[in-house]
Amino acid sequence: MVALEIVDVSRSFGRGDKAVQALKNVDLTLEPGETVGLLGVNGAGKTTLLKVISTLLLPTSGTVRVAGVDVVKQTREARRQLSVVLGGERGFYGRLSARDNIRYFGILSGLSHRAAAARGEQVLAQVGLTEVADRAVETYSKGMKQRLHIASGLLTTPKLLMLDEPTVGLDPIEAEHVREAVAQLRDSGVTILLTSHYMVDIERLARRVVILQAGQLTHDLPLERLLEQATSAAEVNVSGAGVPPLTNGEVMDGVRVVRSGPLDGGWNVTFEVRDWSPASLRALADLWPQAEVGDVRVLPANLERVFAQLTR
Ligand SMILES: Nc1ncnc2c1ncn2[C@@H]1O[C@H](COP(=O)(O)OP(=O)(O)O)[C@@H](O)[C@H]1O
Ligand SMILES: [Mg+2]
Repeated sequence: MVALEIVDVSRSFGRGDKAVQALKNVDLTLEPGETVGLLGVNGAGKTTLLKVISTLLLPTSGTVRVAGVDVVKQTREARRQLSVVLGGERGFYGRLSARDNIRYFGILSGLSHRAAAARGEQVLAQVGLTEVADRAVETYSKGMKQRLHIASGLLTTPKLLMLDEPTVGLDPIEAEHVREAVAQLRDSGVTILLTSHYMVDIERLARRVVILQAGQLTHDLPLERLLEQATSAAEVNVSGAGVPPLTNGEVMDGVRVVRSGPLDGGWNVTFEVRDWSPASLRALADLWPQAEVGDVRVLPANLERVFAQLTR
């Protein structure tokens, strides 16, 4: 059985002129054990999608099933199958230890005292907080609180774990700790849907990437495909003297001008080359019949730039 099945889901907010269509005809399926990265810029609809899946928002239309359970028709049953971690600094009792918080939330989620204690130890270990579990949560860093949120989301052994921007606002070291915790969960077979607008999270954690743009899923591809595009794409900066090259906008499919202007009495142009091919080399070469090319610099693209290209 699939872990998550989303069929033709739309969600809008407000009415009339002010209506915002946050999700438009989204289709997505996750197999058990998959970790899928949902990538999108701010406002793309990532949080809305996680909220619809986790029964916090109703879809305007369409169907969502988690482990075969319809989230609208069988809401309570669906909630037992999933956990969503929306993150943030709040939601814990600051004076209490992480261990006591986790036990308390375990009991709230329906576990017996004994089961809450046992399961609490497991989930604290899964996110690497065992050593510091007796410290009051108010002494925790943002990243430790985020890991505690994830631990709390694991208490009920969900069939689907959703993490909304788990590293947002963390310093690089804290963010890496969170990624380590999520990587461990992934390797232990938990089905994870993770959102981020940071390419680095997706690159590290997901094997499959879906891209949400203005409410629509526009890409669904293995991470390797995205990485291939990152290694083939590049920015090329060319400067020189004499007559400037003829450069405006799209040179050809896959080669476009990013910036151009005068420089030290000469000219300077930056191209973006999506992939190196005879055609793209020829297109570049044809641009300077009279220009004197002085300097050529190639800046290899990174995943951030590929993401920007894909979502432009
Ligand atoms: N409760 C709400 N009321 C009105 N508009 C909302 C609400 N929640 C989200 N939106 C709008 O829906 C769009 C998607 O938002 P969101 O799902 O939060 O995006 P993301 O998480 O990718 O940043 C945005 O245009 C946002 O302003
Ligand atoms: Mg969001």
